[in-house]
Amino acid sequence: MEWNVSVGIAELWRQQAIDGFSGKKAEIPPLDLATIGAQFPIKSKRAYLNNASIGPMSEPVIAAVDAFLHDVRDHGRNNYPTWCTYADQDIKGRIAKLIGATAAEIAFVKNTTEGLVIVANGLDWREGDNVILPSIEYPSNVYCWMRLKKKGVSIKWVKPVNGRVTIESLAEAVDSRTRLISVSAVQFSNGFRQNLAQLSELCVKRGVLLNLDAIQWIGSLHLDLTKYHVDFLSTGGHKWLLAPIGTGFFYCNRKSMNSLEPPNVGYHTVNKGEAHMDYDLTYREDAGRFEEALVNFPGIWGLDAAIKILLGLGTKNIENHILGLTGYAAEGLQKKGWQIVSPMEQGDRSGLLSFHAPKADLTALEMQLREAGVDLAIRDGRLRISPSYYNDRHDIDRAIRALPSQ
Ligand SMILES: Cc1ncc(COP(=O)(O)O)c(C=O)c1O
Repeated sequence: MEWNVSVGIAELWRQQAIDGFSGKKAEIPPLDLATIGAQFPIKSKRAYLNNASIGPMSEPVIAAVDAFLHDVRDHGRNNYPTWCTYADQDIKGRIAKLIGATAAEIAFVKNTTEGLVIVANGLDWREGDNVILPSIEYPSNVYCWMRLKKKGVSIKWVKPVNGRVTIESLAEAVDSRTRLISVSAVQFSNGFRQNLAQLSELCVKRGVLLNLDAIQWIGSLHLDLTKYHVDFLSTGGHKWLLAPIGTGFFYCNRKSMNSLEPPNVGYHTVNKGEAHMDYDLTYREDAGRFEEALVNFPGIWGLDAAIKILLGLGTKNIENHILGLTGYAAEGLQKKGWQIVSPMEQGDRSGLLSFHAPKADLTALEMQLREAGVDLAIRDGRLRISPSYYNDRHDIDRAIRALPSQ
C-alpha cells in the first residue's frame, strides 16, 4: 500500500504489519507534527499532559496490535518463524535506528525495571564493590541495587544541587571500587536532563560502567548512542514512546555484552531454533540472549508502530517541539504566579516541567483539572506536566487557563 493522504497512517501501519508476516519490509513515510494529533483520539477530548506517566494509544498503534492478534486468530502458529525474524531484524532494527545502536544490541523487555534488574543481577559483583546513584532516582533504579547488599555491594548516594545531578558530584563519588554509575537520563520528579556526553566521558575515563534508566528521555528527546559510550540502557514503552503497557527494550553495548551474565536463561538465550533437545547452553551472540523465552509479540507490534511514528516525525523535530511546549508553559505559569521547580538552564530542560505554589492544595487541584479536561501529575509535592509530540499550544493554554492564579 502506497502512502498518500487519503490512506490513514493507521491503515498503512496495519497493512505493513500484515505484509511483514510474509517478510515484506516497511517503508516509513515522513510524517508531520502539525497533523499527527489526529491519530490520537484523546486529543479531541482532553489536554492530556501526563505522557511521563502513561501515554495514550494512537490509532496506528492499535491497528498494528490488532493486525498481529488477527494473524494469530486466522493462522495460529503458522507465521511464527516470520514473526521471530521480523521482530529480531526489522523491529529491533527500527529501535536501533531510534537510538543510534544496532539491532544486535537490543533485547525486548516488559518494562524499564526488567532491564535495570538484568544489569544488577547480571554483573559479577565482588564484595566491597559500589554503585553510584543519585538520591532522587525512581525506585526501579534503587531496589535492584539495594538488594546487592547481600553480596557486599554498597550504594554511594549523590545528592542533587538545586535539583541538578551534577557531573562534578558524580565524579567526586567515584573511587577505586566503583563498578557502575546508574542514573535516570531525565529525572522523573523535576525533569532534570543529564548531560550524557559528559557523563559518558567521566565513566570511560574512570573505567566505570554506565547504566541509564532512559524512560523519561526516549520518545521525547533525541538520542544518538554513536556519539558517546553507554554500556546499558533500559526503557519501557508506555510513556513517551506511546506504546502499549508491558513493552520496552534493553540496550546492551556490544562491547559490554560479555560483562553481563544473562540472569534468566531459557530457549531464547541460545541459538538453537527448533532443535529443542540439542541441549547446549552457548549464548546467542546478540542481546537476544537476555530474552529467556517468547516475548509479548502483540505489544511489540504496537511498540513498533509507535516507533515508526517517531522515526517518521524525526526525533530532533520532536525534541524541538516538546521543548518549545515546556518553555511556553513555563512562561505562562510564571505569569500566573506559579514557581517553576524544574532546572531551566540551557541543556537541563526536558519534556517534564514541575511547578509549585506554597499555598495551593495540589491534590484538590489535580481533581478539578481532570474535571476540566486537563490531565497532569503530582510528583514530589509538585505539579508536573509532560506534553508529547501530539500536544500543541492549545493544550498548554487550556491547562494554564484551568489553573488558578497564585
Ligand atoms: C525514571 C523512571 N524509571 C522507571 C519507571 C518505571 O518504569 P517501568 O514501569 O517501565 O519499569 C518510571 C515510571 O514512572 C520512571 O519515571
